[in-house]
Amino acid sequence: MTAKADSWLRCVHCGADYDISDSRYLCTCGGTLDVKRNLSKLDGKELVATWERRWGAKNGVDASGVWRYRELILDIAEDKIVTKREGNTRLYHAGLAAEYAGAKHLLLKHEGENPTGSFKDRGMTCGMTAAMLRGASSVACASTGNTSASMAAYAATVGIPAVIFIPSGKIAYGKLAQALAYGGVTLQIDGNFDDAMALVQDVCAKMGVYLLNSVNPFRIEGQKAIGFEILQQLDWEVPDWFVIPGGNLGNNSALSKGLKELYELGIIDKIPRIAVIQADGANPLYKMWRNKTSYEPVPNPETIATAIKIGNPVSWEKSLRGIEWSDGVVEQVSEQEIMDAKAMVDRAGIGAEPASCCSVAGVRKLVEAGVINPDATIVGILTGNILKDPDAVVGYHKDTLRDIGIEGRFANSPVSIKPTLEEVEKALEGINS
Ligand code: F0G
Repeated sequence: MTAKADSWLRCVHCGADYDISDSRYLCTCGGTLDVKRNLSKLDGKELVATWERRWGAKNGVDASGVWRYRELILDIAEDKIVTKREGNTRLYHAGLAAEYAGAKHLLLKHEGENPTGSFKDRGMTCGMTAAMLRGASSVACASTGNTSASMAAYAATVGIPAVIFIPSGKIAYGKLAQALAYGGVTLQIDGNFDDAMALVQDVCAKMGVYLLNSVNPFRIEGQKAIGFEILQQLDWEVPDWFVIPGGNLGNNSALSKGLKELYELGIIDKIPRIAVIQADGANPLYKMWRNKTSYEPVPNPETIATAIKIGNPVSWEKSLRGIEWSDGVVEQVSEQEIMDAKAMVDRAGIGAEPASCCSVAGVRKLVEAGVINPDATIVGILTGNILKDPDAVVGYHKDTLRDIGIEGRFANSPVSIKPTLEEVEKALEGINS
């Protein structure tokens, strides 16, 4: 590594340094890598002024909700950036979902409004840019669905093959449809996400394919922009809490890394607390944090929130570091809690896929437990679009999920009628009262 480099790679586990242009994803010790940056050359006030100037740009890289913050993303010539103008997603007042959660000031950042319908596009624009810089001729990922949809779309943009490893029969239909439609080479493996993740790392090492899972440190760099954009939307007023779902644990690792950089640059003067929410059937981080034990994967993860059906998350070490830095917490929520919270997010007119709604389920649980004050300012992150998983939505509203232990408590079932005025009148009785 060159001693004066402005950015470099550092192992989260053992602290070994590597050159930023090194194509490795893991340290020789097996630890994950961070992009480190020499922040002393940057001025926080100037950065904020630059980012404010770029806000609302119509064209070019400034119009991306990731590359607007490029000084903290990746140092690269603008014409080398692969972007779909990702980000620029809305921050909603949670309405009914806030009432349900018992939180007076709950905002929801809807990352399902990204180009391919999930937060993954923020990491992918940066990952794909890094791939092209390294001369990659094909890319690969293991996925529970959203990463693969995103990667396939970005690969299609630059015209290189996307190789996708997904657990057979276990990903939401909308996501599978996207992977196929964008032209991804889709390999359904007889195993779960964790098996797919182990396999893809092997394949990439042996076949010279560039790996675009969030173990790739450049994915994390792009992902940090969620936090930057939220704070810019809040005029740099720091909320008390960020609440975010946890699966492979890249997103919350990125959130805390980005916030820490803003803090070190003096752009924010308060450290928000981060709550990571896992499904109780796929909860390795929760178990470790709660019981203060060492990391143990969960062997057979299970949840209706298939996006986070992960037992052996690659970024657990980075995640834990960020939770500790922010005096954060980890919580788990049940299947029923996830789907009831989802019904409320949807009913509020916002809508998101099941995994996303762990945020609201988590806020409710943490307010009830007295961990989050009902008066606190909270930003919940909704990670994926409502249309990603229509089966889960219709199953809940038709109340056909009882065999997997989920009741349609807030079901809005379709009503079948004959096409007559009388039947309509009967069905709509009291509608205007
Ligand atoms: N929410 C959604 C909708 C997701 O797709 C994922 C992850 C998460 C939350 C969890 O984020 O992994 O950074 O902790 N989906 C990955 C995928 C694993 O393959 O699409 P995380």
